[in-house]
Amino acid sequence: MKRGKIKSIAPWYGGKRTMAPNIIELLGEHKMYYEPFCGSMAVLLVKPKSYHETVCDLHKDLTNLATVLSILDTAVELYDRLGRTLFDESLVIKSRDILKNNIEDFSPVERAYHYFVSSWCCRNGVSGTLRDSFGLAVRWTPTGGTPTLRFRSATESIPAWHERLRNVVILNRSAWEVIPKIPDQDGVVVYCDPPYIKESRGGASKYRHDFDGIDHRKLARELCRFEKTRVVVSYYEHPELAGLYPADKWSHIPCHQTKNLHVQNRRGSTRGTAPELLIVNEVAG
Ligand SMILES: C[S@@+](CC[C@H](N)C(=O)[O-])C[C@H]1O[C@@H](n2cnc3c(N)ncnc32)[C@H](O)[C@@H]1O
Repeated sequence: MKRGKIKSIAPWYGGKRTMAPNIIELLGEHKMYYEPFCGSMAVLLVKPKSYHETVCDLHKDLTNLATVLSILDTAVELYDRLGRTLFDESLVIKSRDILKNNIEDFSPVERAYHYFVSSWCCRNGVSGTLRDSFGLAVRWTPTGGTPTLRFRSATESIPAWHERLRNVVILNRSAWEVIPKIPDQDGVVVYCDPPYIKESRGGASKYRHDFDGIDHRKLARELCRFEKTRVVVSYYEHPELAGLYPADKWSHIPCHQTKNLHVQNRRGSTRGTAPELLIVNEVAG
């Protein structure tokens, strides 16, 4: 069995697995890394380690899973239990029921186990959204990945995820608390991947923790204060972004990724190209 094959701790909607190398190149060398909207941690898992790393997301089950993975004892317990778990529809139903209860009613490992099962045994690319309650993944076409293999590969990735996360600070807070505290200094970098502007997503998916128009303006205001810290922001192209991130301080770099919009957005629409954009600030040299 190949270890560490999967580079995201949950099959996240809007996950940056394919774009991670471009993002990491733009961030450049650094000592401190901050990621206020980390989702499945697809960028962190590919990025070389740096001295201080802090990630944050409002999604409680996601940050609980990350914390369980980061601690050796709990990561081993989760790995052992998942290794003995069958890809089984009745377990998925039970896990879904358990996740409806308060997170505080369970031990962190118990909760992480059911979150892992309900994420990795079910539909790809919907974790983190309000559409994350589809049942067991069943393939009805001869092309595409195999759900059972995906579940096993995710389980077999746990040792590598533990190794990568063990020195990372994982926060379950609002980014609005975190971003103002990030230092504006040489050697510090920030990667921001907020929920995208609604009209640019072209579909019905909504994150469990989402943004409205005011939040996009607030984020741009917060990020415009950085003069020495390198900031990279992800969005889908949208006319509003030119005003939020003006060209005298920010470079807008199109990064055309072929994403399966039919899976990401509306079932039934055709495969298309997602107009991804990376927005990077000018830093004082
Ligand atoms: C585009 S996704 C990030 C995807 C991530 N880069 C990946 O590769 O999986 C946006 C994330 O922002 C989180 N989020 C939304 N509002 C937030 C807030 N105010 N503070 C922290 N996280 C928030 C959502 O839970 C979601 O995981």
